[in-house]
Amino acid sequence: MNAIKLGDKAPNFNAKTTVGEINFYEWLGDSWGMLVSHPADFTPVCTTELGAMANYREEFQKRNVKVAAISVDDLESHVRWIKDIEETQNAKVDFPLIADDDRSVSELYGMIHPNADSTMTVRSVFMISPEKEVKLTLTYPASTGRNFEELLRVIDSLQLTAYRKLATPVNWKKGDRAVIVPSVSDKQASELFPNGFETVKPYLRLTEVPV
Ligand code: BEZ
Repeated sequence: MNAIKLGDKAPNFNAKTTVGEINFYEWLGDSWGMLVSHPADFTPVCTTELGAMANYREEFQKRNVKVAAISVDDLESHVRWIKDIEETQNAKVDFPLIADDDRSVSELYGMIHPNADSTMTVRSVFMISPEKEVKLTLTYPASTGRNFEELLRVIDSLQLTAYRKLATPVNWKKGDRAVIVPSVSDKQASELFPNGFETVKPYLRLTEVPV
């Protein structure tokens, strides 16, 4: 099994999806990406998750994140299941649902954890930067649905680090002060954060997030 680690290049692949055949890199373009695996079509937790993922469309778009989901089911099954998701979750599923009945992508990304279940993917999350670098990996068991508010919070944190040289402290949420990353000197910090910052300790400096 491949174990993808933070900082790795996200593996590229071609796949059949519910929005047509895609090359993952071409489909991502210059956007951020979130690739999630779900254990199986026509299962209850997955149905709620993918409905929610569709309904967070605007939040992902605001953050320039393209989202896709994958399981080891085939395309025909995905297409039939989407009808149920849309009917029961009041959602329009317009992101790609990747068909992986030959398991090639699931194995490439290490989404099958044989000691948990050798026949299905676990609930993996991969966040990918525009440079195609893996920035976050998460693994949930089949029985635990993910929290999409938390996934959006993580994207906000990743983007604050990428674009603002800020990290996010414990339980951070939008509107809270963030932490200046240690590689930024006090002199640089004064330039980057003209509204100032609080030095609690030389290594713990808090500032308002610039808008
Ligand atoms: C579900 O999506 O509901 C599910 C799938 C596999 C095992 C347990 C729950």
